[in-house]
Amino acid sequence: MHKRHLIALAAAAVTSVTLFGNALAQSDTVKIGVILPMTGQQASTGRQIDAAIKLWVAQNGNKVAGKKVEVIVKDDGSLPDATRRLAQELVVNDKVVALAGFGITPSAMVTAPIATQSKTPMVVMAAATSAITEASPYVVRTSFTLPQASVALAEWANKNNVKKVVSLVADYGPGYDAEKFFTDRITLNSGQVMEKLRTPMRAPDFAPVLQKVRDAKPDALFVFLPSGQGAAFMKQFGERGLDKAGIRLIATGDVTDDDQLNDMGEVAMGVVSSHHYSAAHPTPANKKFVDAFVAAHKFRPNFMAVGGYDGMRVIYKALEASKGAGGDALLAGMKGQIFESPRGQVLIDAQTRDIVQDIYIRKVEKKDGQLWNIEFDSVKAVKDPGKLK
Ligand code: DHB
Repeated sequence: MHKRHLIALAAAAVTSVTLFGNALAQSDTVKIGVILPMTGQQASTGRQIDAAIKLWVAQNGNKVAGKKVEVIVKDDGSLPDATRRLAQELVVNDKVVALAGFGITPSAMVTAPIATQSKTPMVVMAAATSAITEASPYVVRTSFTLPQASVALAEWANKNNVKKVVSLVADYGPGYDAEKFFTDRITLNSGQVMEKLRTPMRAPDFAPVLQKVRDAKPDALFVFLPSGQGAAFMKQFGERGLDKAGIRLIATGDVTDDDQLNDMGEVAMGVVSSHHYSAAHPTPANKKFVDAFVAAHKFRPNFMAVGGYDGMRVIYKALEASKGAGGDALLAGMKGQIFESPRGQVLIDAQTRDIVQDIYIRKVEKKDGQLWNIEFDSVKAVKDPGKLK
């Protein structure tokens, strides 16, 4: 009798330990679902952000609020239909507390309804069309917006006697933002956009549009192209002799992309661009970031890497605040964060959930045999002009 009782007790104890153990193991891990273009047209964006996430975890560990953090990276091949399917799987099957990544605007837009429905915070680390943050109240952005970069560059153009401009943008969301906000600002201050040209988002051929630019003879050509197209564009610009014809090239920093800049050669020298991040940003915090990134990955971080690195920071700090909970508690922890990014001081605006940051005007220069975007002017604490309607 005594013995039987003991065995029963022991069995019960084993069962409850097992049950309890399972419950603990589950709630002891929080999963972050990262969807990136690791292959396809935007593969360089995926490579940069993936490397930055790995650096963040190597530096900050995989424990937050007493829980183990598991980062699940999925490749959407730069195709939004795949992004949507992967986002659904990550939410439903993996029960991630946050979605993150999003290399291009269409990928972010198709995921927004899933974030809303499941109340899953969605950290946009790359895509940069203004309207993305309005597509779901669960979107938080750590990249930038094209209106931020384009307005700052138009103001620089106005102050520097650039009057007649042709605009050339990729034919989708961020391109339309760049074209509109650059044009509105430069014309407000007596500049003129002579022609608005667009190239396909995928596999663009720059020859026909560059011929049009040559014929129009503007003071400057303003360009936005998504990360990864800058080097091919720059080569054609040089080969067609536009630089020699006295047409000045001005661009958002996506074109003088640190991922490719060093291979662009002489034609890139002196190009003025506007952006939120340069690998040459002269602060101790950025030097530390760039040195650690290069040591770990053997290539230079670009603006995509910084969006990914800061996105991880935003998620980690929010998990600390929510004690590992997801949903609205996690979202609340993301809003209003202020911190020193490698790019400078930033704020996640609690109202818009978009990033407020300095925009720098830079010029491509050679230093120690390498090409860099050297900052020479800045506009402080820029809120997305796309939201000041
Ligand atoms: C987007 C993609 C880019 O590669 C970039 O440099 C800017 C914006 C986008 O699709 O939103």
